[in-house]
Amino acid sequence: FIQGQPKVEKCIEFGSGSSCSSIYLAEQGFEVDAVDICEVAIERAKTLPNAHMVNWVKADLLADDLFESAITENGYDLVFDMQCYHVLRLIDETKVATNIYRALKPTGTAVVVVGAALPNRDNDSVAPDGKDIEGKPGPPLLTLDQLRLPLERAGLTTVQLSLSRFNPTPHYASLPGGLAPLAWMGIFRKIQWNAEDAYALEVQAPFSTYILEGKKSIETRAYALPPTLLHKPIYLLESQQGQDGVSSVGDFIPAQVPTSDTSSVRIIGTVVFTACTQYTSQVQFDADREKHLVPVGSAYDYTVETDTHRFEQNLNNIKAQPIISMKEGKIKELFAWEVGSFEANVYEEFPALKRVHRSFFKVVK
Ligand SMILES: C[S@@+](CC[C@H](N)C(=O)[O-])C[C@H]1O[C@@H](n2cnc3c(N)ncnc32)[C@H](O)[C@@H]1O
Repeated sequence: FIQGQPKVEKCIEFGSGSSCSSIYLAEQGFEVDAVDICEVAIERAKTLPNAHMVNWVKADLLADDLFESAITENGYDLVFDMQCYHVLRLIDETKVATNIYRALKPTGTAVVVVGAALPNRDNDSVAPDGKDIEGKPGPPLLTLDQLRLPLERAGLTTVQLSLSRFNPTPHYASLPGGLAPLAWMGIFRKIQWNAEDAYALEVQAPFSTYILEGKKSIETRAYALPPTLLHKPIYLLESQQGQDGVSSVGDFIPAQVPTSDTSSVRIIGTVVFTACTQYTSQVQFDADREKHLVPVGSAYDYTVETDTHRFEQNLNNIKAQPIISMKEGKIKELFAWEVGSFEANVYEEFPALKRVHRSFFKVVK
């Protein structure tokens, strides 16, 4: 993940301790502030090779005046947190999540790595699932919701959740099973939806047309409609049907004049969503079939199947790298976005669009 990021960006590590993550980030081209409350840990980190590349800061990440003295609010492209969030949440979950949010620039990304609890797992080298294990060897274990919900409540958007293991250490090797504990890696983004900006939603043909023909009055998605976009006209960006669940459009679409009806992507009108609710049962989803038109058994259908079983079988094969995505590893969430109104339109010109989140693009002026 880190290697794919633009270089010379500002990064802050929360709870850097005496490990070498911050130095690694600096070596990758980031300008890094490494923050820890513990003087001894910082002094030890300073003895590591290339430690001079990092700005070491002694501060309490839960201090009321954190942004007045030690670190800059809205100042960082990347917040990196390896095993600090999962400690600080025991003291003040809301505050640590809020401080991660506040530290980030408006388009910044947070990478948070915590001990992982899996449902129905009792065979790992550390403690029982879903419980913090203070006093036992290994990190606190968090469920996915314990990781993501406080950060989402603070205003961040979950981009990806993956399962990995912490790096092997002699200590972990000496425990029964010899494996380092499982870890969740969450990637979160601070997205600022601006009521003054124009947005476009990619919808694959033929569902895009069904909306404009009034045949499809509910759009179903695996995430909630950002509240700022409720009751607001959104461009309908039609793309061609491709692989299920995979966008066939790049992350940036240059301004263009549509040449023909066979253009692979085009804006065909606007849609206004007037409500967004989450489906909580199969019955509820089935009752809306006529409205959302999702084909039975398709990749977009309601399902409560989880891949937890698959992960259970493969736990011993999960190494520190590579990580595996948990996107489909949890119960699929489905939301109903109710179409309030729509308008078909032919556009002479096509603005440049930049993907900001999932299927949403922002019109770039
Ligand atoms: C489990 S260690 C993780 C260290 C390092 N990130 C790593 O992966 O090895 C947690 C770190 O958070 C730091 N920490 C705990 N409370 C803190 C606070 N209120 N403000 C800043 N750092 C804190 C501790 O001093 C410790 O270095």
